[in-house]
Amino acid sequence: MSDIEAMKAQLVGDIAAAADLDTLEGLRVATLGKAGSVTALLKTMGSLSTEERKTRGPEIHGLREAVTAALADKKASLEAAALDAKLATETLDMTLPASARAAGSIHPVSQVMDEVAEIFADLGFAVATGPEIEDDWRNFTALNIPETHPARAMHDTFYFPEDRNGADGNRMLLRTHTSPVQVRTMMSETPPIRIIAPGRVYRSDSDATHTPMFHQVEGLVIDRGIHMGHLKWTLETFLKAFFERDDIVLRLRPSYFPFTEPSAEVDVGYKQEKGRRVVGGNGDAEGHAWMELLGSGMVNRHVIANCGLDPDEYQGFAFGIGIDRIAMLKYGMDDLRAFFDGDLRWAAHYGFNPLSVPTLSGGISA
Ligand code: PHE
Repeated sequence: MSDIEAMKAQLVGDIAAAADLDTLEGLRVATLGKAGSVTALLKTMGSLSTEERKTRGPEIHGLREAVTAALADKKASLEAAALDAKLATETLDMTLPASARAAGSIHPVSQVMDEVAEIFADLGFAVATGPEIEDDWRNFTALNIPETHPARAMHDTFYFPEDRNGADGNRMLLRTHTSPVQVRTMMSETPPIRIIAPGRVYRSDSDATHTPMFHQVEGLVIDRGIHMGHLKWTLETFLKAFFERDDIVLRLRPSYFPFTEPSAEVDVGYKQEKGRRVVGGNGDAEGHAWMELLGSGMVNRHVIANCGLDPDEYQGFAFGIGIDRIAMLKYGMDDLRAFFDGDLRWAAHYGFNPLSVPTLSGGISA
């Protein structure tokens, strides 16, 4: 065996025996590096005689190729072994439950909106939306509240400057209730209509039970032959599901809204328990009282006509519920302003698990 063949056997053996990537890198530098042994041999090629070059030339090139290939092989197998070792120690148990509480919580307003949508979806209602920047025609005029109507003044409206009027010349405002979504829905859909419209509304008002922004959910049903009985049954069914108790008793009290005729304010019976109002029972019963919960009524025929429908053919009912108010009642908060303070301690205490979505089958507030 020539000296070069012997050297090749030695180097290939050393490379195969390298225990780790650092040792291997050392061997690469010692052989193919600038001052490496194989590099040194390659440099001698120029000074060989033609005869010598014929025999030693191929041997030296063979040596370089064998060393290069052995280094690459060993590198690949050491890297694969390193990856195997890493995978063996780094385990990820996909069956573990995610710890969702640490990631934040669902705000009671969002929770209640989800609960309301789930209950009404079961009754065949779709969710409709409208813009918070509305025009005075949809917020007032179409709802039978003309310019001179005292109800306009009662709404403490935030108006935009006149130079921001809409394309059709209407004054723009922050909607004071979700009722303009009634108008938008009646104008864009043909009956039968069954929608709820949850969202933000704005009024210039602020104390412990009023904030300049709050939340409502509007309900609207338009079809043939709709009457107050449908309204009462729908509200009773909703409130029983929402408060998760069967002893909900409603009292419909005659009232006035320009957009409904007749109008009814709906009260619910409750009892004071440990300094807290708990809904349930007849408000006239011993130890009970009535509390106003929402506004409702049969959609005024002028509103139906304003929206392009024939009031002799179609009628319906509408209601408006304060979401923040029913959230406070159900979950026992006493200051509305805390809803919008963004205090993380409050959110952690009153918030809901983001992974438990309200469903009728699984429990609405579970
Ligand atoms: N829009 C009324 C309010 O904000 C509530 C309401 C809605 C009343 C629908 C009747 C029908 O006070």
